[in-house]
Formats: sequence, C-alpha cells, structure tokens
Amino acid sequence: MDSKILIIGSSGQIGTELVLKLREIYGNENVVASDIRKGNYEVMESGPFEFLDITNKNDIKEVLEKHQIKEVYLMVAILSVIAEENPQMAWELNMNSLFNILDLAKNGTIEKVFWPSSIAVFGPDTPKNNTPQDTIIKPSTVYGISKLAGENWCAYYSRKYGVDVRSIRYPGLISYKTTPGGGTTDYAVEIFYEAIKRKSYTCFLDEDTVLPMMYMDDAINATIGVMQAPRMSSYISYNLGAFSFSPKELANAIQKQIPEFTINYKPDSRQEIAKTWPRSVDDSKARNDWGWEAKTDLDQMVITMLQGLHYTI
Ligand code: SER
Repeated sequence: MDSKILIIGSSGQIGTELVLKLREIYGNENVVASDIRKGNYEVMESGPFEFLDITNKNDIKEVLEKHQIKEVYLMVAILSVIAEENPQMAWELNMNSLFNILDLAKNGTIEKVFWPSSIAVFGPDTPKNNTPQDTIIKPSTVYGISKLAGENWCAYYSRKYGVDVRSIRYPGLISYKTTPGGGTTDYAVEIFYEAIKRKSYTCFLDEDTVLPMMYMDDAINATIGVMQAPRMSSYISYNLGAFSFSPKELANAIQKQIPEFTINYKPDSRQEIAKTWPRSVDDSKARNDWGWEAKTDLDQMVITMLQGLHYTI
C-alpha cells in the first residue's frame, strides 16, 4: 500500500475497533492510530500510534507528513449528553476538528476523509418511523446542531473544492471493547455491565423509548464500506439502520439469557434528548448506493455482548 490511513480518536468507542479492522485489511504498519490519550492494549501494541491533539493543525500536518497519510477517519466528537452540559466546548471541538481536516483535504494533503454524522441531526419535527434520508432536519440538541452544520460543511467543501468526504448518520452503537461516553444511547451498553455485575439495571430512559441501534461490527463494516465505495456525484451523509428497540425490549432480550435480570426506570434529562430522535430510519439509499446490509440482529447482539463482557469485567 503506497498511502497510509490515519484514525484520529483511535481510543474512543468506534476508533478502537476501526483501527483493528483496518489493520486486518490493510496491514498493521499502514494504519496509524492517534488520540490525545492512550488506547487499549491491542491498538497500542499492534501498530503505529501518535499522540495527537485534533485542535492543533500543525501537529496534524506533522503526523500526516511523517506517515505519508492519504486517508483520514476523524472519529472525534463530544456526544449528546456532554454537549448539552458544555455547548460551547462541544461546538468548538466538533466543528474545529472538522475544519482542520477539511482544510488539509482542500489543500490536497489528504485525499479522502471519513466524518461521522448521527441520528441526532433529526429533531422533534422529523417523521419518527422509517425516517427518510431527506426530510425535515431541525435538530434540537447542541450535538445535533453540530452534526447538521458538519454535514453542510462537508457538502460545501465537496462542492466548492472537490474534497472527497464520506459520512454516515450512525444510530446508537453497541460494543464491549471500549465504553462509549456521554451519549444518550449509552444505556444500551451500560445495561450489559449491570446485567453481568448486579443482575439489575436502572435505566435513564422510559421503558418504551424506541431508538435505532446497531452492533459495532456492522458499524465498522459500514464505515469501511462507504469509504471503499465509488465516489458519488455529490456528498451524502447516509442514513444507516440495523434494528430498533426500547429499553423494555432490550431487557426482555437480556432476560432470555439471564432470566433473573430485572430493570427499572428513572428517566432523566436524557429522555428529553431521546424523544426528539427517530424510532427507525430508512437506509435504502445506503443499500442501493453501496450495498449496505446489517448482519447482526438484536438477539445475536445480546449474546455477543454478554459473552464479550463476561471475559472483560
Ligand atoms: N450515540 C450518540 C449519542 O447518544 C448519538 O449519535 O449521543
């Protein structure tokens, strides 16, 4: 491989697994991990790692030059809950990180960029079921506002400067290798830790709050899939679906494996965020354009999570 790949935010929930998969595909030495903090053992040991502050453009440039990077996955963001608590910090980090990378791509330093969007771009006026790709998009959260602005900036840089940038609107992501932090959908990960440790969980969302979710392996395949797809005539941030469930439905699926598991509900301010997001999304555009298809269903995901965490915690 004559050009290398950089993952920024490689210690995060998605970044960790993305690095490992990309190293499997392209070779360990061709995939550079970077973050402001150390990552998990596998990431740190299996290939190159750079400490990198995404807000420092000169440092980014140095890493790009040092490793002859041509492709960047920008997996850095402050998620929905933390963003509500620190709107300005979230806006600055979420937007400046993107600007830094888009500008470097505009100058030709980087040839291809992945930037993650989210179901959070949708808001209370959006149709909730089978939410279309193009619809009313008026987010009501700080995080959603930053993601929608990001989508618009990606479209702008693509149109005006020819930057090749690819995006997915991730649903809630469920994984066990690295914990998520500060998201509204995080209950669907926390619940597994508590199911194993205490056999009970107090959920911060109402029992019937249905949200679109996905197991991490599918999210990683989608991320790499959209980057490997032929370039579309214009930028698009793809809706992506796998399965949807409520906390109650997830608890029922866990009870199939751990019959004594119990759940109770104590909704807090995160409920206000969750109720503005879709229940399910229409991802036919991703299916048609680059053959997207989810492989893991709810029951399989539950079994994999319980097995994976059994050895971790
Ligand atoms: N998982 C994210 C959150 O809950 C949504 O993209 O903030």
